[in-house]
Amino acid sequence: MLENPPAPPPQNSLLQVEKLSRHFGGHRAVHEVSFTLAAGAIGGLIGPNGAGKTTLFNCLAGFMQPTSGQVWLDGAPIGGASPAQVFASGLARTFQIPRPFPEMTVLENVMIAPLNQIGERFWANWLRGGAVRRQEHQTRDAARRWLAFVGLSELEHKPARILSGGQRKLLELARVMVAEPKLVLLDEPGAGVNPALLDLIVDKIAALNAQGTTFLIIEHNMDLVASLCRPVMVMAQGELLLSGDAETVLSDPRVVDAYLGTA
Ligand SMILES: Nc1ncnc2c1ncn2[C@@H]1O[C@H](COP(=O)(O)OP(=O)(O)OP(=O)(O)O)[C@@H](O)[C@H]1O
Ligand SMILES: [Mg+2]
Repeated sequence: MLENPPAPPPQNSLLQVEKLSRHFGGHRAVHEVSFTLAAGAIGGLIGPNGAGKTTLFNCLAGFMQPTSGQVWLDGAPIGGASPAQVFASGLARTFQIPRPFPEMTVLENVMIAPLNQIGERFWANWLRGGAVRRQEHQTRDAARRWLAFVGLSELEHKPARILSGGQRKLLELARVMVAEPKLVLLDEPGAGVNPALLDLIVDKIAALNAQGTTFLIIEHNMDLVASLCRPVMVMAQGELLLSGDAETVLSDPRVVDAYLGTA
């Protein structure tokens, strides 16, 4: 994105974000946001509706070009890269509103995940039966393993349209894990999920983290944030307000003000 991005400072962080901005005309959806996330962390990103959280994710994952700023993943600059490049370098994201292909089976939806994130050029290969197609068996095995991991094996041949909100979130998790990313950005994994499935999702995130996957999670459910996330970062009106452990952050009057709109 930037010409001649500066070298990242020597830090042991998996993700480093430096003065990242995304403006829409005069609207500063994300403004000069800087933070680092250590490898092995489960970072939380909270803030009121419209704070800029999803826009930040879009910029990190290559779905939106930042107006300015830089991003490094494992020391390599990824700011301004395409979704395919970012995905290939080990960063995968889920969507706030999962939109599986409704008539495709649950298994097919997981199998096409890497392609879905990689983009249309790869879709063409898939449809032509090219190189990507030849990996189908391997992909199918991996997809099955991840569906078993999230507890959706029994539904693998059902069309995705029958899935509940919580099952769609689990499907999203399986989809991104097929590519075994280093860093997973989850956009509201708890939204629209019933309490039983929410516990399952929390357990699965914790298990993946214990095996080495780093997470950054946008979430409005503060129980989920408090039980999983450290550090917790708070965005309000496009800017990073503060960062710290959940207990400190959630009791900070500035955070209360931001949510009540009195800031
Ligand atoms: N493509 C776009 N064009 C113009 N404005 C946009 C665009 N995308 C987002 N915005 C604006 O940027 C601001 C931040 O939106 P964003 O979706 O990032 O918020 P959020 O923190 O994810 O909110 P929520 O918690 O409701 O999901 C909002 O004012 C939104 O209207
Ligand atoms: Mg959002």
